[in-house]
Amino acid sequence: MPTKPLKSCSNMKERNPITKRCVRKCKSNRVRDINTFKCIKDPLNHVVNPITERYVKSTYLKNIEKKQQRILQTIRKTHKSPLHKSPSLKGSSYKSPSLKVSSYKSPSLKVSSYKSPSLKVSSYKSPISNSSSRLAYPATSIRQSLSSPKLSLSKSSDKKGSINSPNSAKKLSRTPSYKSSSRVFSNDVLKNMKVKKIQSFLRDKLNINKNTLINRINRYNLLKPKLSLLKDDDCLEVKIFNGNMSGYTIRNIINLEKLIGSKSRYGAIYLTSIPNLLGIYPIATKVMKFDSDNVREVDIMTFITNKIILKRLSRHFLMIYNTSNCTKKIPLKIRLISVNELADGDLKMLVTKRDVLEDDELMFNLLFQTYISVATFQNLVKFVHNDTHFGNFLYQKNNEIGYYHYTFNGNDYYLKSCKYNIIIFDYGFAERIEEQNIATINDDYFKITYAFMNKKTGWGNYKDLPKDNTNKTILDISTKIFEMSKKTYQPPSRRSPLQRTLFIDIIENIFLKYTPKDMFITERPANILNEIPFRIE
Ligand SMILES: Nc1ncnc2c1ncn2[C@@H]1O[C@H](COP(=O)(O)OP(=O)(O)OP(=O)(O)O)[C@@H](O)[C@H]1O
Ligand SMILES: [Mg+2]
Repeated sequence: MPTKPLKSCSNMKERNPITKRCVRKCKSNRVRDINTFKCIKDPLNHVVNPITERYVKSTYLKNIEKKQQRILQTIRKTHKSPLHKSPSLKGSSYKSPSLKVSSYKSPSLKVSSYKSPSLKVSSYKSPISNSSSRLAYPATSIRQSLSSPKLSLSKSSDKKGSINSPNSAKKLSRTPSYKSSSRVFSNDVLKNMKVKKIQSFLRDKLNINKNTLINRINRYNLLKPKLSLLKDDDCLEVKIFNGNMSGYTIRNIINLEKLIGSKSRYGAIYLTSIPNLLGIYPIATKVMKFDSDNVREVDIMTFITNKIILKRLSRHFLMIYNTSNCTKKIPLKIRLISVNELADGDLKMLVTKRDVLEDDELMFNLLFQTYISVATFQNLVKFVHNDTHFGNFLYQKNNEIGYYHYTFNGNDYYLKSCKYNIIIFDYGFAERIEEQNIATINDDYFKITYAFMNKKTGWGNYKDLPKDNTNKTILDISTKIFEMSKKTYQPPSRRSPLQRTLFIDIIENIFLKYTPKDMFITERPANILNEIPFRIE
């Protein structure tokens, strides 16, 4: 049926692209929020009131500072304390952890009676939960870690609290509150943006093999000079795109044009373009509050990019192109940015696709890649992730056919390539791995296993997928991983830290036992895709 043509809106009104209704235009002092299409106060003329967390005029804040000095002091004291990071400063939608109700059902594991001795409050229910104090990280230079020639981040000067310390702060695991389907990733860019105008051969050139490690590195080298024009203390400025969409720019070097998905509590991700560059290279900018956790995240990403990805040692991380930390009086939560590679989506999106869930071999491949990315983060980067929910694993489409070569513990392993490359991301809760106990280290693997199970036992969307047999096998794997958290492994030493012993166990008792035929092998195959073997430690 032909669709009825829409009546044009009157002069005072404009069309809401979502509801298609005519709505009143924003007043001159407001701009459109591109996500909700509501008129919001222009962030450029406003600052965040630390008490209410609402935008107020900067002059008004001065009055508040005078009148509410005591409240402000209390907030600042609480915020500084390493033992209790005030959650109210993290985001306006904060709810008391004790009231938080998980939207994910606990998998029906036999181990559900397990009680964690610790305090970690996770929004994903799981039999294991462990505590880790979120200690303040010294706000040292973001690039400090790069100076180290070895594969280790420069040590922070602060003392880490014991994992079982009664004073350990409660930690909130961050729930991806978005609907994955509402997100826009590189695919949409290629479909919807200027790319329409370019000829099909160029589109193919952009699409085919764009995510091989070599091409990712080439793209980095191409974009880096342009993105290096960003200064360490550059600030975001509001910019209106397409007439009425509010985003940001930094001196027109980068344009943050569109929020990817709905707002998240700890940061906002913007689809970003680089004007004046031949060809279209969409990237992603994470806009964050300037705090110790986020600075550490940027530090870790910078380290990984320089010491691991650019050296072709792993394909399971995301590259950061540049970062800036604005020191001007703009809202705290938009002061720190990291300009990153764009992924095609996250694992949460992937496991809503029925064709992915129906493909048993693909499911195991994704699970193994997820575990390898955790293992590499723990063994090579030497951090525990502490927040391995499925929104924190990104994917890039992959069309390489063959085997990826990995080395670990002096052995060679080969994993068949598949349609997606899994990337571990979002290190806002990461902690140095030394002194972490087995439960914490194990939890990084255990938690993400729920992503690969159906609605009945995991975080799945469907009751019937993954298929019963596959679901049962993944439930077995999950039980085995959990049992490893209770094993008494040989006492850790420098040569054999816990994370290493654990991954040896996982390779022996999970990868090699549960691999579909010829997917994870120890015999060298003919068609190896990576010249330099990927390192896990
Ligand atoms: N570079 C990227 N490319 C594509 N998508 C991205 C990228 N960075 C982030 N995203 C999307 O944005 C989501 C939120 O990003 P991120 O995990 O960094 O934010 P967060 O506020 O720390 O999230 P949460 O608290 O929910 O873990 C991711 O789950 C992913 O879907
Ligand atoms: Mg996240």
